[in-house]
Amino acid sequence: MSTAKKEYKRVTVKSLVEMKKNGEKISMLTAYDYSMAKIVDAAQVDVILVGDSASNVMAGHETTLPITLDQMIYHASSVVRAVQRALIVVDIPFGSYQSDPKEALRSAIRIMKESGAHAVKVEGGAEIKESVKRILAAGIPVMGHLGLTPQSIYKFGTYTVRAKEEAEAAKLMEDAKLLERLGCFGIVLEKIPAALTKEVSDSISIPTVGIGGGKHADGQVLVIHDLLGMTHEFNPRFLRRYMNLYEDMGNAISQYVNDVKARDFPSDEEQY
Ligand code: KIV
Repeated sequence: MSTAKKEYKRVTVKSLVEMKKNGEKISMLTAYDYSMAKIVDAAQVDVILVGDSASNVMAGHETTLPITLDQMIYHASSVVRAVQRALIVVDIPFGSYQSDPKEALRSAIRIMKESGAHAVKVEGGAEIKESVKRILAAGIPVMGHLGLTPQSIYKFGTYTVRAKEEAEAAKLMEDAKLLERLGCFGIVLEKIPAALTKEVSDSISIPTVGIGGGKHADGQVLVIHDLLGMTHEFNPRFLRRYMNLYEDMGNAISQYVNDVKARDFPSDEEQY
């Protein structure tokens, strides 16, 4: 297996399948606004996910359920304006694709048309088969999402590791193969045992992207606020923090407050 890294001017869904074939790991990260997306894209992240985790980290909701299609389109449009290289995937939010395939297609079309993104992501397997087929038939690339699917949090009851039991693991494997057969270009595997991620990744030709799925996924995804340490109260085992922005930003802002109170800011040089 080669570990050589090919240069991609623009990452496409085809590039991702090629990366898997070549043994190149895929990097994926969320972004929800223009400024952050610009930084993420310049750092050569392969896939930017406009995740419905915006509901948590941008809007402060406890779950991903409240975010609306209009709000997702707003976030996605901001990201699209910033990005030149990465593939941009947008979550179709809860309630905008589960009820019937026509609604699913309408939602996917709105995202593609109004934001300019490149692909959509949906959560689930066999239950949403007809919706996935409909969206794909319109020429819209679809990414799947299996394992811990946050839109179903009230069915699960907790955010603990999924598919530890044989029956759930077997269903997940079936769903992964189904999504591949339908024509999805990749699958996010969230919070499942590393051994199952390996089994799934070895069994399908489309890339898997893990979050809490261990090292055998074909790529990794994190929520940018977690990676940067802005969400300091969220500490799952799978999370590697690369910064402690919560503290650093807090210190910078406190310093600013002190400077204003002490009449130290602005200085003579910082005025007209
Ligand atoms: O919404 C999101 O950020 C996601 C990732 C956790 C994969 O779906």
